Amino acid sequence: MKTIEAIQFHSKKINFDFNFENTSDAWCDTRHMRVFWEAVSLITPSAEKYIMRSVLAYKNEEIIKGNSWLQTLVNEFIEQEREHTHIHIKLNKALGINDIGENSSLEKTMRGLTEDLSILDNLAIAAALEHLFFSVIKLTFIDTGFYKDQTVDKKVLEVFKWHWCEELEHHSVTISLLSNLDSSYKTRIRAAYNIVFKFIPDCWKIILELERLYSPKNYRFNAMIDTIKLLNYFRKGIGVSSKFFDPAYDVIPAGKWSWTYIEQWRKSFGVNEPVNIRSDKN
Ligand SMILES: [Fe+2]
Ligand SMILES: [Fe+2]
Repeated sequence: MKTIEAIQFHSKKINFDFNFENTSDAWCDTRHMRVFWEAVSLITPSAEKYIMRSVLAYKNEEIIKGNSWLQTLVNEFIEQEREHTHIHIKLNKALGINDIGENSSLEKTMRGLTEDLSILDNLAIAAALEHLFFSVIKLTFIDTGFYKDQTVDKKVLEVFKWHWCEELEHHSVTISLLSNLDSSYKTRIRAAYNIVFKFIPDCWKIILELERLYSPKNYRFNAMIDTIKLLNYFRKGIGVSSKFFDPAYDVIPAGKWSWTYIEQWRKSFGVNEPVNIRSDKN
């Protein structure tokens, strides 16, 4: 078995203040960014519950049971994802958009994947989603300067900063687990297929509903304009995202760019710890 390496991380339970002065359309002036981050927040509960189910399906398998370091990693990973789900539902309620998430078909789609696919295929999709989030954080949160935008409501931004800090911390867990279990391109291609044809269409419907909330008349047109603006950020990151298909991709050195952000965001939550790498050898 290959050595499993990861950034040392733990769940940071933060007390967020959800008494927003600005709700819904006022927390962020840039429309396409507001719609995008609200959609991400609405997608989070169903996506994270799916990721938790996919990883927990391996809990009694030898790969995790026989490796106490990996057990610790997985427990912390689940703890972080559980907390993300819980906090984003609170955020969605505070922003007055939670109904859109409740009425979405995403939860049903993700439950269908869990039921219909093998545990390996579900783990591969979970790893692909984690890698997608990793790319999204880089391209739309950091590279755009959104994480330090003074015009964005600080309370809302704090929730995203905390979530993205923990996503960057635990990004390697599902990918390392998948690489240890399976090194075929086919598994990864099947995962990408399910994301493109099952996950993304439900996400798109959530974006449309948000657009409809903000402009009931021209929402399809606005959705197209906002999506083009967003795709322009993603266009620059095809190289990062496509690394998922490389079974030999080493997520620790490849993720080094994220360490300064992890440290910076940890500090802002009062957690003053440098990034340390641990492996099952130390
Ligand atoms: Fe998360
Ligand atoms: Fe995650």
